[in-house]
Amino acid sequence: MKVELDSVTFSVPSFELGPLNFSIEEGTITAIIGKNGSGKSTTLKLIHGDLRPDTGSIRIDGSKVSSLSSSQLAEKTSFVWQEIYSPMSFSVRDVMNVSGYKRGFDEDRMMMALDEVGLASFIDRDFSVLSGGERRLVTLAAAIYQDSEIMIMDEPTNFLDIDNQILVYKIMKRLKMAGKTLILSMHDLDAVHHLADFVLILRNGNNIAWGRTISTLTIENLNKAFNVSFQTYDTVNGSSFVGSYKG
Ligand SMILES: Nc1ncnc2c1ncn2[C@@H]1O[C@H](COP(=O)(O)OP(=O)(O)OP(=O)(O)O)[C@@H](O)[C@H]1O
Ligand SMILES: [Mg+2]
Repeated sequence: MKVELDSVTFSVPSFELGPLNFSIEEGTITAIIGKNGSGKSTTLKLIHGDLRPDTGSIRIDGSKVSSLSSSQLAEKTSFVWQEIYSPMSFSVRDVMNVSGYKRGFDEDRMMMALDEVGLASFIDRDFSVLSGGERRLVTLAAAIYQDSEIMIMDEPTNFLDIDNQILVYKIMKRLKMAGKTLILSMHDLDAVHHLADFVLILRNGNNIAWGRTISTLTIENLNKAFNVSFQTYDTVNGSSFVGSYKG
C-alpha cells in the first residue's frame, strides 16, 4: 500500500508543520528524524488519521485517510505509540486482543507475535506492572499481531536495552521482507543508516530533506537539522556519523 502526502500542513498555536510532499512505496522502511519537537510524532499521527491536516491530502492506496472509518484504518495501519498507556487491569492478552480485533482472535498467531519479542510467557501478566522495555515489546508484538500492511512506529526502540534494540531491528527487516511498509521515527542515526530505505528530515516542522537514505542522510542535511556539527568516522561496516560535542 502506497502512502502519499500532498501539500500537507498542520498547525497548533505554537507549531506549524509542512507543507509535506512525499510518497512512500510499499515494502519500504521510511525513517523520520529531527530534533525533539520537530514534528515527527505529529507527522505519524497525521498519516495514521489521528490528526487531520489543515490543508493538503494524505492518501493510502489512493483513498483519503480522512474518508476512511477507524475500522478501515485499523485494517490498513497499525501504530506503536511513543508514549505507552497502561490501562489498569489489562493483561498482556487484553492488549494483544485490542490490536488484533479486526483480524479475529487467533491464539497461535498471538503466541507467535509474543514469542518473536521473547515474551510468550508474559501472556497472562498484568500489562500495567511490566517494565518500560517489556511494555514497548508487547506493543510491538501487538502491532505484529494486528498484521496491517502499513506499520507506523514512534520511536520503537525507546526503553530497550541493546540486545532488544537489535532484536527490534531484525524484526523490522523481517517485516519489510514480508512486504510490510514501515514508517518510523528514530533518533539513532546509525540504525537509520542501516535500516531505512528513505529518510524524512524535519526541523521546526519544516521538511529539510526527503529521499533515499544514501543521498539524504548527509552531513550537510544533518548539520541543517541539528545544532551539532557532524563528521564521519570509519567502521568495519563502512562510515558512520557522529555529532561534534563542540556544538
Ligand atoms: N495538540 C498540541 N497542542 C499544542 N502543541 C502541540 C500539540 N501537538 C504537538 N504540539 C507541539 O508540536 C511540536 C511537535 O511535536 P511532536 O510531538 O510532533 O514532536 P517530535 O518531533 O515527535 O518530538 P520528540 O522527539 O520529542 O518526540 C512540539 O513543540 C509540540 O509541543
Ligand atoms: Mg515524538
